[in-house]
Amino acid sequence: MTKRTIFLTTALPYANGNFHIGHIMEYIQADIWVRHQRMCGNTVHFVGADDAHGAPIMISAQKLGVTPEEFIAKIQDGRKQYLDGFLIKFDNWHSTNSPENTELSQEIYKKLKKAGLIYTKDIEQFYDPVRQMFLADRFIKGTCPKCGAVDQYGDSCEKCGAVYQPTELINPYSALSGSKLELRTSEHYFFKLSDPSCVQFLREWTKGTAKDGTKRLQAQITAKTEEWLGKDGDLADWDISRDGPYFGIEIPDAPGKYFYVWLDAPIGYLATLKSYCQKEGIDFQALLESPDTEQIHFIGKDIVYFHTLFWPAMLHFAGQPFRTPEHVWAHGFVTVDGAKMSKSRGTGLNPLVYLDLNMDPEWLRYYIAFKLNSKVEDVDFNRNDFIARINSDLIGKYINIGSRCAGFLVKRFDGKVDTSAIASSALIADIKQAAPSILESYETREYSRALRKVMELADQTNEFVDQNKPWELAKKEDKQDDLFRVCSITMEAFRLLSLYLKPVLPRTASAVEELLGCGELTWETIENSLNESTVLKPFKHLMQRATEDQLVKLFELSNPNNTQTPKTEEAPVSSQEEIEFEEIAPTISFDEFTKVDLRIGRIVKCTKVEKSKKLLQLSVDLGEGRLRNIFSGIAMYYKPEDLEGKLTVVVANLAPRKMTFGVSEGMLLSASDASDKPAGLYILEPVEGAKPGMRLH
Ligand code: 2FM
Ligand code: ZN
Repeated sequence: MTKRTIFLTTALPYANGNFHIGHIMEYIQADIWVRHQRMCGNTVHFVGADDAHGAPIMISAQKLGVTPEEFIAKIQDGRKQYLDGFLIKFDNWHSTNSPENTELSQEIYKKLKKAGLIYTKDIEQFYDPVRQMFLADRFIKGTCPKCGAVDQYGDSCEKCGAVYQPTELINPYSALSGSKLELRTSEHYFFKLSDPSCVQFLREWTKGTAKDGTKRLQAQITAKTEEWLGKDGDLADWDISRDGPYFGIEIPDAPGKYFYVWLDAPIGYLATLKSYCQKEGIDFQALLESPDTEQIHFIGKDIVYFHTLFWPAMLHFAGQPFRTPEHVWAHGFVTVDGAKMSKSRGTGLNPLVYLDLNMDPEWLRYYIAFKLNSKVEDVDFNRNDFIARINSDLIGKYINIGSRCAGFLVKRFDGKVDTSAIASSALIADIKQAAPSILESYETREYSRALRKVMELADQTNEFVDQNKPWELAKKEDKQDDLFRVCSITMEAFRLLSLYLKPVLPRTASAVEELLGCGELTWETIENSLNESTVLKPFKHLMQRATEDQLVKLFELSNPNNTQTPKTEEAPVSSQEEIEFEEIAPTISFDEFTKVDLRIGRIVKCTKVEKSKKLLQLSVDLGEGRLRNIFSGIAMYYKPEDLEGKLTVVVANLAPRKMTFGVSEGMLLSASDASDKPAGLYILEPVEGAKPGMRLH
């Protein structure tokens, strides 16, 4: 079969924060696929980079008093520990803030302009009078104009995936200062996505078939793009410019104007490939232009619009040497115990904490792979399931096979194997027969299916061992031939299972290669076998069991401010005896109670109060058309960023209180026990559906 050349990327993470578990999941998904391709003998250029531009990074750098370049360099320095830690092997890690990206972005822009797809238009844009700047979309929040979801960012809705202009948001406000926004006019550059040729191209491209004979996009994604393209193809043009001050790439011949970060971010894929080619002495242009090159992107479901409409349109109309992607493959998010991760609920999962606890990266790779398929579905991390999958599948079924038989061969048969027994074994024939379906499952990103099949084969192998009882054969002088036969077959089965698991467990597979002395395991070597020249090495321990304690620590340390007990089946249920109970206050009449006006408020902004350990300053929306300034003594218990966007309960008619740092116009309700320094303090959050301004009765 002809060998493939693949240029593969994962989405470029913003350089304003460390990797979270969602990034790691995507990289693991892609890394497994890359390893599978390489085991097929295909060439893969697997690259990633930091998405370094945009207002948020500029603002974060400003807050720290450093330049954006210094800020992103620091983030970039932190990447390696995660990638090495989880055995994710990119060929190159670069940055969108690079000469290659500037050059390519300006080149693509000029080509699009030449194609008549760029125009300028004065637009009214939101200006934050407090911060004195036009606001980036992500600093504008409001209600989604399409589905009505509240607290959505200015460019796209996390709930329904719609992309829109910030001016279309309902009730917009500044997420930076909490202030009401002013509309001011400025000239912007647009990419004419609504052009009939563009719409026509996208209609075909989104439904098309790739070179490998499969659909370019997943069925769910094509359905989404059809919805966006609509019957009449009424795609909105795309605003690709931002006014300075902005950390980004300058638009040629347009002083003070910069490319919107989402224009140069995907071009960063090409810039990273280019930088890789320069390092490796590969001809970038020839690689890109070659009809044999397949360009494939793994992304999250939240950025499908950018990758299936803007990006292919840009590439197509920019023309040679650029090529449109063969595939854009989207995945879901990581959830914990069935819900979105939340630090305040104690369900944040910090990958660095995982590594610091010396938890095995292959456990996570296996667990994630076990849950992944080719659909756009969320992947749920469940602690008890995690322990079960590792201890019962990986250790109990797979690793166990090697340790049950290797010792007999090493000690009694000089590490040699019975080749004729292997050649005539029905078990080995069965395991080999599964190869095409396992390979197909890896190829189509049905990792869950691949691993379930491998575990079935591991069960079958363990049954073979249980039936033949090598430990009993070992005790009988006249059964040594049987012992040799059974152990040899078992070790060949172990070789094959290790081969099947190699894309997921590269470290273990490499240790197995060493122990079996079988050379590099690739898909071609399925046909090989342990043979006359095999000399097994003494078996060392390949993998530890996962413990309950590790999982408890993982969640405790990932959520340092959370005082709730992690939810495991064995966790004690907290009881009233554990708190220092405060006597119930004297009875009041109903009329007295109704004097207190309690309202649902949305915390729009929350910051630390300098020089105060206890206080946080909050801007709270009580639905009155203005924001309340409230000081609350909860700084020891909550991080400001964890509170922003939350709904809570506020005493709305408490007389304003003058404090050292300003006037407090209300009080947040929170719960704690009677101790002087309560271990936990909890603000109240209403169940879903409550809206700012609603009164509590
Ligand atoms: O959503 C994000 O995290 C973006 N930084 C992804 C960019 S992907 C590509 F376009 F660079
Ligand atoms: Zn929406």
